[in-house]
Amino acid sequence: MCGIVGSIGKINTRKYLIDGLYSLDYRGYDSAGLAFLDSSNELKIFKAVGKVEVLDSIAPKEFESSIGIGHTRWATHGAPNETNCHPHVSSHKEIAIVHNGVIENYRALKTRLMGYGYSFESETDTEVIANLLEFNYRKNHDVLDGIRRTIDELEGSFALAIIVKDQPDRLYFMKRSSPLFIGLGDEYKLLASDAVPMIKYTNKFVDLKDDEYGYISKEEVALFKGYDKLEPEITHQSPEFLNRDLGDNPNYMIKEIQETPQVITRLIDNYFDGEKFLFNPKMIEAIKKSDDIIFIACGTSYHASLMGVKYMQYLGKRSEAYVASEWAYFPVFTSKKPLYILLSQSGETADLIRCQKIINSRGSINIAITNTKGSTIERNATFSCLLFSGLEIAVASTKVFSAQVCLLALLTGAIEKHTNVVTHLSVVTSALEKIIENKQDIENIASKIENASMIFFIGRGNDYIASMEASLKMKEISYMHCEAFAGGELKHGPIALVDKDTCLIAFNSDMSTNLALRNNVKEIEARGAKSFVISYSSFMKDDDAFLVDNVKSYLSTIVMVFVSQYLAYYVTLHKGLNIDKPRNLAKSVTVE
Ligand code: AGP
Repeated sequence: MCGIVGSIGKINTRKYLIDGLYSLDYRGYDSAGLAFLDSSNELKIFKAVGKVEVLDSIAPKEFESSIGIGHTRWATHGAPNETNCHPHVSSHKEIAIVHNGVIENYRALKTRLMGYGYSFESETDTEVIANLLEFNYRKNHDVLDGIRRTIDELEGSFALAIIVKDQPDRLYFMKRSSPLFIGLGDEYKLLASDAVPMIKYTNKFVDLKDDEYGYISKEEVALFKGYDKLEPEITHQSPEFLNRDLGDNPNYMIKEIQETPQVITRLIDNYFDGEKFLFNPKMIEAIKKSDDIIFIACGTSYHASLMGVKYMQYLGKRSEAYVASEWAYFPVFTSKKPLYILLSQSGETADLIRCQKIINSRGSINIAITNTKGSTIERNATFSCLLFSGLEIAVASTKVFSAQVCLLALLTGAIEKHTNVVTHLSVVTSALEKIIENKQDIENIASKIENASMIFFIGRGNDYIASMEASLKMKEISYMHCEAFAGGELKHGPIALVDKDTCLIAFNSDMSTNLALRNNVKEIEARGAKSFVISYSSFMKDDDAFLVDNVKSYLSTIVMVFVSQYLAYYVTLHKGLNIDKPRNLAKSVTVE
């Protein structure tokens, strides 16, 4: 799971590569590297362990070059050290590559290539591709033929930018499963894992498909699949949705949390024209006709799916949600007309892609709900709904969780033809605005819980779902040990863990469970833990820690999770940790 960039032609190569890597480091930040041909066509390589900042500091401040490639890595094969860092160069130094993906048959290929005298320095699967490309190229000194042969031999996923040392006027590429885009400028051409690094230079792109390969040069794009030459299909992207400006914000997470009210308003505008919903009628019909709505997702998107299940059950539909990494290996097929809803911010999550392949191989209808236009999951779905949330850069998903739940609510409204969901969502945006005004109170709670040995999040019904998401968010960025429980479950075991160093956060948005939940809080307090109740204001108690305005109960999760995002944010800020890039994680999880 990595990010790659490449450029050729009249462009500031260093600036494009380094800026591009900064914008792709959501895909991994264990190491970064770049390679270019200098004015004498000498191959220069710079590698650094750690974030792109380190590479930026060690690479020459200026260099004359019109062809270069760059990489930011999330380690899969081999530790994050300099040897394993990309770019990788073939044994005879003829080819340099950067790679995003995983090669499944790399061991067998490595053994074979070693038999032909190829040597290997790193533990990576990528070095095998560099050597295989060189081996195949050397057969008849035709790079395109060498790439085609290599594609046939590789099993797994790859997006590659390839410099061939004796061909400085062409930057080669090949792609399967991992995303790769070409950006078209008049006197330069670009490559990148997504459109973001390129949007400052062009809004014309070619979104490459599986097993396509070719080269870009200053003037042209040459595209092939197998032995066929293809005409590149040019698409346009709007810069508005690819904006990376931080503005006055100290980091992306706080920027993205605060964007949530606008994201909800934009989503309403995209799916409701003031009178009627704007979803694809065929998609709505398909949902109505199905006998089972199955949600599949990972992490935060899975938590949003749990709300989807509640909405579908409210419509009287059979519905359930699965974690993608489980369903991918243990799928269940118990209905005649299933319809699958796949939620993914990135649209590139490998576990979910595996599920979608199974679903598509059975010819079943699937709807992708994603924030990323042109992503693998969006492209391969029967229907898709975009979340229009703008880029989400912080690893911790915030505004997109709210957008996912909001979209599911709008979809439910569209199925039922109940337009009042739009009014209910407007009330949510007001409640969120008020929370933003009162965020200082949440920071005060953060100060009281940040030294706890463990945090319990509890709730009942929708608040239990909010607890799960709150716990994930807190773990992910603050590294605190957190657990989420349905309020009533504590006494069935987990309460044994509670001591005076435990903190409890209880979400309380449901009148019908208010008393029961408050009893659960008392039970925990009696064991010495500190508790903090986040409650609807209509049934508040004097010692509640934070109050939120009432919203319709089916939307309460958005509001409670919003509070928890601030809470995780402030705890992490106080601990001085990297909020946007927590350890061991990457934004887009493109490995299983
Ligand atoms: C969210 O804060 C996490 N970083 C993570 O759980 C994420 O939601 C999960 O990896 C799924 O990603 P996706 O929505 O892009 O598929």
